[in-house]
Amino acid sequence: MNYREMLDKARQNMKPKCRVCPECNGIACRGELPGTGGYGNGRSFTVCREYLKSVKICMDTLCPETDPDLKQTLLGQEWSMPLMIAPIGGMAFNYNGYLTDLQYNSAVLEGALQENIPAFSGDTPDESFFRSLLPLIRSGKGSMISTVKPWPNEYILEKTRMLRDAGAKYFAMDVDSAYLPALKKNGMGGHPKSEEDLRFLIRESGLKLIVKGVMTAQGALTAREAGASAIIVSSHGGRHFEDAPATASVLPEIRSAVGEDFPVFVDGGIRTGADIFKVLALGADAAMIGRPYAIAVHGALAEGVHLYTERLREELRYIMALTGCADLRQIRRDKIRASLP
Ligand SMILES: Cc1cc2nc3c(=O)[nH]c(=O)nc-3n(C[C@H](O)[C@H](O)[C@H](O)COP(=O)(O)O)c2cc1C
Repeated sequence: MNYREMLDKARQNMKPKCRVCPECNGIACRGELPGTGGYGNGRSFTVCREYLKSVKICMDTLCPETDPDLKQTLLGQEWSMPLMIAPIGGMAFNYNGYLTDLQYNSAVLEGALQENIPAFSGDTPDESFFRSLLPLIRSGKGSMISTVKPWPNEYILEKTRMLRDAGAKYFAMDVDSAYLPALKKNGMGGHPKSEEDLRFLIRESGLKLIVKGVMTAQGALTAREAGASAIIVSSHGGRHFEDAPATASVLPEIRSAVGEDFPVFVDGGIRTGADIFKVLALGADAAMIGRPYAIAVHGALAEGVHLYTERLREELRYIMALTGCADLRQIRRDKIRASLP
């Protein structure tokens, strides 16, 4: 199957929840929740695409010929490129149930292992879903990281115990799911987490924590001070409220707050190898992609992950060659032109 055939298949398989637009930008699906869109007028999603498009890349070919090295060491492992698959949950709720959550995550993991990139799984109020993913966490040997919702602390620890038993070293928590109405189902709900909560969870779980859903320099500092191992700059795909800033636009202030060595990942509207280059130049260590991987998997399961990742890899390699970047460290701010809002 080629890339185009994969998209055609996905268009059939995702009707009517996702239209598989030529560019996944949040315009056609704005306000569609449950679904794939951004909340309300959809601006918190569409602004991510608009901002990334406004960032320009400076060509520089007065340099030695190079075969760019895309490898990146993160979370204690070496990966083939600075790319991660974002957690996407609710296959029946947000999509049309063509795939179950287990089928989706199984295909994601198989593709991620083939491509040597990390993937994140999601979490729902249905605990049987969480339990069904544990064999994947075990067989993934670090390539699949569970993203646990910000439940009450004791319940999080029940889940992290299961993850530890499955051999996990890390867990992520999408702290931006606090107050999410869909989580109130089992009477627990999602809660905001203080620095003390994060410290407690890291200490008691015995796992390393990646905090997903940070949008401010202060939030990044809180996570770092609490002992988190990394943060993910994310506005949850713009699914909470209108008029969040573009995730990529807050990277420079977050990077300058946490310093050079603290791992920062980012998601929101990243679609191409050029976008990966731009977010790295703005201060991220890796880019995370969600909805387009859901499309790829609906089109061709693990092969879809391969087809899309290969495309991103070639695009990033080409841009690096044309900007004189032999490795990822050389993708710095002077390689782009970006006006910050
Ligand atoms: C349908 C859907 C389901 C999602 N489920 C989860 C989830 O379970 N956990 C989570 O942390 N983020 C979840 N997200 C947010 C994504 O992980 C990601 O932050 C967001 O989609 C932005 O990236 P993108 O523009 O590349 O899709 C979901 C997003 C969508 C669209």
